Amino acid sequence: MIKVVIIYSDKVMEHFKNPRNMGEMEDADAVGEVGNPTCGDLMYIYIKVKEDKIEDISFQTFGCGAAIATSSMVTEMAKGKTLDEALEITRKDVADALDGLPPIKMHCSNLAADGLHKAIEKYREKQK
Ligand code: FES
Repeated sequence: MIKVVIIYSDKVMEHFKNPRNMGEMEDADAVGEVGNPTCGDLMYIYIKVKEDKIEDISFQTFGCGAAIATSSMVTEMAKGKTLDEALEITRKDVADALDGLPPIKMHCSNLAADGLHKAIEKYREKQK
């Protein structure tokens, strides 16, 4: 039997243990919903927009520790940014901000960035 040991950075562990901006946002302007078909994890990113900036943001993640840490980090990175700036946040940016993720867990950072982008796209669709 092969045993896989996953080592997380201190930052990942810190965000996992003390997630920022966690919870549903009742009065969100848009919600980005993403799922990972491989592991079945699910993430919601809620945004509140004012004057084209992300005034407030929160998340709900039903997934692994890395998914929770990346969602927490992406909310911190996006808060206060314009929608265009927030759209530039990549999966790699999120992983880098957490001092990296183990290769086997890199896909978890996809959820966070994709969820943010989806929420912004939904918001813009609603504005049309
Ligand atoms: Fe599913 Fe991390 S294992 S998002």
